[in-house]
Amino acid sequence: MSVHVQNTRMTTAKLRQMKANGEKIAMLTSYDFTLARLLDEAGIDLLLVGDSASNVVCGNATTLPVTVDEMIFLTKGVVRAAQHALVICDMPFGSYQVSEQEAVRNAMRILKESGCDAVKLEGGEEILPAIRHMIQAGVPVMGHLGLTPQSVNQFGGYGLRAKEEAEAEKLLHDAKLLDQAGCFSIVLEKIPAALAERVTKAVSCPVIGIGAGNKCDGQVLVLHDMLGLNQGFKPKFLRYFASLAEPIKTAVDTYIEAVKEGSFPNEEESY
Ligand code: KIV
Repeated sequence: MSVHVQNTRMTTAKLRQMKANGEKIAMLTSYDFTLARLLDEAGIDLLLVGDSASNVVCGNATTLPVTVDEMIFLTKGVVRAAQHALVICDMPFGSYQVSEQEAVRNAMRILKESGCDAVKLEGGEEILPAIRHMIQAGVPVMGHLGLTPQSVNQFGGYGLRAKEEAEAEKLLHDAKLLDQAGCFSIVLEKIPAALAERVTKAVSCPVIGIGAGNKCDGQVLVLHDMLGLNQGFKPKFLRYFASLAEPIKTAVDTYIEAVKEGSFPNEEESY
């Protein structure tokens, strides 16, 4: 008797099919096993171990300090949790800009040591040789254009990108180059919705937006932001899908009180 096991794992081919079918793609960031398992069980399509870990996990002011070793450490936990979702690891600042050889070496290290399915890196034409080398070497690559937080010191902040015609045309050109080079998907961050729609129609690979309107093929948010854990951070594009900061604080307040007054643990909670 032969048993037919249906493969429910997300693949880059399935993502293309979703774009062709007009089926939206849902992606979230993820940095640890426990939460990744919840997201995967909920049916998320893509899990991104974003270099936003530098901010939300490590408390840095920018994404720049996080290292390849730290990204591999975090990604391993997410990979162990993902039964369905495709797992993408961000290549950190400095790991792909120096030379094409170093970029391929770091991308392969990330894939081999973390077990993830793909890498993401920020930039267009200027990093195209590195992207081509990676794809030729068999590394699936997701591009990232628009607001690219690793360039915050060059941009001088986290404002809306590509408002002006020249930057918008360059972005469209870059997106086409990434698509032709074989990127399996492109993230567009914080750009006008009309430009994101133009890009989405112009490229064959799925486009995932964050602050890029709703005409992209899919959406991504930083998990801690959309769960309302990052109180005070509320850019226009962000929707809180939960407000978990207060319930967590209340639970911890209640625990502290129970410990201090000696009511925890009680008899049933003791051996
Ligand atoms: O690092 C990250 O979280 C990201 C997303 C914002 C796309 O790159």
